[in-house]
Amino acid sequence: MPGRLAHIAVAVPDLDAALAHWRRLPGARAGVAHDLPGHGVRVAFVDMADSRIELVTPLGDDSPVAGYLSRNPAGGIHHICYEVADLDAACAGLAAQGARVLGAPRPGAHGRPVIFLHPRDFDGCLIELEQAP
Ligand code: CO
Repeated sequence: MPGRLAHIAVAVPDLDAALAHWRRLPGARAGVAHDLPGHGVRVAFVDMADSRIELVTPLGDDSPVAGYLSRNPAGGIHHICYEVADLDAACAGLAAQGARVLGAPRPGAHGRPVIFLHPRDFDGCLIELEQAP
């Protein structure tokens, strides 16, 4: 659904350990981990009633998440993902308002295009935009 918060991503040093932690939450359903080599990460989703947590860990030392974990070794909130009806139009509109769009759209964890916005333009929060289905 366009305009909804699609997920909150938590960077973790050990994905299997993190899945064990998060599946303890009442009603949480932990998914299966899979690699996203195009983003340099391995991810698993934890589904809740109307929201999702994305657990994300680095694939390789040059992963963008590796830098985050070097500053936050125990892990922490890495980004929030917001779903948009038209990713290209959203990027153009945001850029016109001075927000920095990082790179070009690439397939994300659900196979739909995603892009990131610079955290300095959103009060220190890395924003992922995902094309709505
Ligand atoms: Co994400």
